[in-house]
Amino acid sequence: MAQDAREPGKQELPTEEELTRAGLRLAVEGAVARITISRPERRNAMTGRTWTTLAHIGQALPGDVRIVVIAGEGDIFSAGIDLNMFTPEGVDGERSIVAGLADGSADEADLDAYISELQQGFLWLRRPDLVTIAAVRGHAIGAGFQLALACDLRILADDARFCMKEPALGLVPDLTGTKPLVDIVGVHRATEICLTARKVGAEESRELGLATLVVGVDELEGAVDDAVAGLMATNPDAAVATKALLQQAAGNTLEEQCAAERKAQVGRLTALAKAMAPGA
Ligand code: ACO
Repeated sequence: MAQDAREPGKQELPTEEELTRAGLRLAVEGAVARITISRPERRNAMTGRTWTTLAHIGQALPGDVRIVVIAGEGDIFSAGIDLNMFTPEGVDGERSIVAGLADGSADEADLDAYISELQQGFLWLRRPDLVTIAAVRGHAIGAGFQLALACDLRILADDARFCMKEPALGLVPDLTGTKPLVDIVGVHRATEICLTARKVGAEESRELGLATLVVGVDELEGAVDDAVAGLMATNPDAAVATKALLQQAAGNTLEEQCAAERKAQVGRLTALAKAMAPGA
């Protein structure tokens, strides 16, 4: 289940100190929030704290934010999970993923709950009240690929490389990436990409529909700004209703989807009529 929508004013955004400890930067300007994965000395590898802090950002974003852009610091999106998370020591005092199972202090249910908590950092990016954009330079490996898959749009520099590395490490992709991957490329191509753990370059990503757009490295920032401007030009309420409608389409029969379209449109027309009424 996706997270509940934000409740403005109910929760403060993470402090600068919390963001730094999570390897993140955040800039909110009006309707646009920009999140940067920022651990350049670890190739922007992410930890459990990165994802719980992402979830916190999602809950606390001001109510007028419509667009979220996620990028990596420097010339890489992210090297995926910080591999030290799999060591008994973990990372900077963070809980190790394996230590509890190894010493018997955690059981399978504890681990399931922990992974569920981490998945929250990815799920909120699907919320209909936001449009989320991954701006990808260089590698997006494992959890980095899954983070890009959690976004609505993926704008890639031509040096971008996606890689679902987990199976090569004896793991499965568990940070919400398998569904969007299959939705976009189909189960057969997804199987090949995951089970070979090969790198998928920018041009192939465009052909497969994984990339919304591929541009030169120097053009990435401008292409993201153009996409943001284009999205901002749309009526905000219609954007929310349309994203919600599109998200249902794959799971609905044609009849159900037609009913959903009618319901959403009645809501829109009612709102527009109210706005046009004399004295409104
Ligand atoms: N976790 C922890 N440290 C990392 C990670 C990572 N995922 N990736 C890179 N680093 C560290 C390296 O250990 C190295 O540290 P050092 O300077 O102390 O030796 C530093 O970042 C630079 O790494 P290089 O490998 O030298 O950088 P390069 O640019 O040559 O390669 C690349 C980048 C391709 C991302 C490579 O580092 C890599 O393959 N990393 C591992 C990717 C991986 O397996 N991620 C886990 C996927 S599974 C999942 O995400 C759930």
